[in-house]
Amino acid sequence: MPQRLYNASSHGTLMAGYDAWAETYDRDVQDFGYATPDAVAAAVCRHLPKRDVRLLDLGAGTGLLGETLYGLGYRHLVGMDGSHGMLTQACRKGTYRLLCRMALGRPLGFPDHYFDGLLAAGVYTPGHAPLASLFELSRILRPGGMIIFSIKWDGGFKEDVLEVLQQMKDTAGWQCQSWSAAYRSWPYADETQEARVLVYKQTCRS
Ligand SMILES: C[S@@+](CC[C@H](N)C(=O)[O-])C[C@H]1O[C@@H](n2cnc3c(N)ncnc32)[C@H](O)[C@@H]1O
Repeated sequence: MPQRLYNASSHGTLMAGYDAWAETYDRDVQDFGYATPDAVAAAVCRHLPKRDVRLLDLGAGTGLLGETLYGLGYRHLVGMDGSHGMLTQACRKGTYRLLCRMALGRPLGFPDHYFDGLLAAGVYTPGHAPLASLFELSRILRPGGMIIFSIKWDGGFKEDVLEVLQQMKDTAGWQCQSWSAAYRSWPYADETQEARVLVYKQTCRS
């Protein structure tokens, strides 16, 4: 991922960066060996095996995760992202029932406890979706639903994630189901960057 996106000074600057990248994003991340959508999709198959579940792809981007899940038989896919350019590319794939332009970190226009699963690939990473947005996610996830998301696994950011997850456990009864092993998220572009896919179950209404 281009370093300038990690260092974007504001949400608007970050979204402008993704708008500018959108057309070549799929080709570029394929060249980088981007591993995260497949890693998240594998966790979805394991923890939400029924194909009729309602899934929301957070920071869906150009829809790589939706494309994989659709191929695996999931049909109730909704996507959201803050970048109009990325959503335009996702729309072309024709795999989401609905695509919405919204910002993580602000109230989301979905009903309470609507989704069975909330998914995020490459979105909870420095300079991207604020970790505090996890509290709003809890509102739209049904009790018993799963949140399956990748996390960039590095020093300070990792510590912040663990702190917020402890708060989610205390306030929304989030229960850890699994953590993947750390893997290289962009193996052909940067061998040092690692991520994990985390799976949590929401055990109560919040
Ligand atoms: C690295 S891309 C990942 C896209 C897609 N999930 C994938 O795996 O290819 C990060 C995406 O998160 C979106 N994003 C980052 N911060 C966001 C925010 N606060 N609200 C909504 N979307 C955001 C960006 O627009 C971008 O599409």
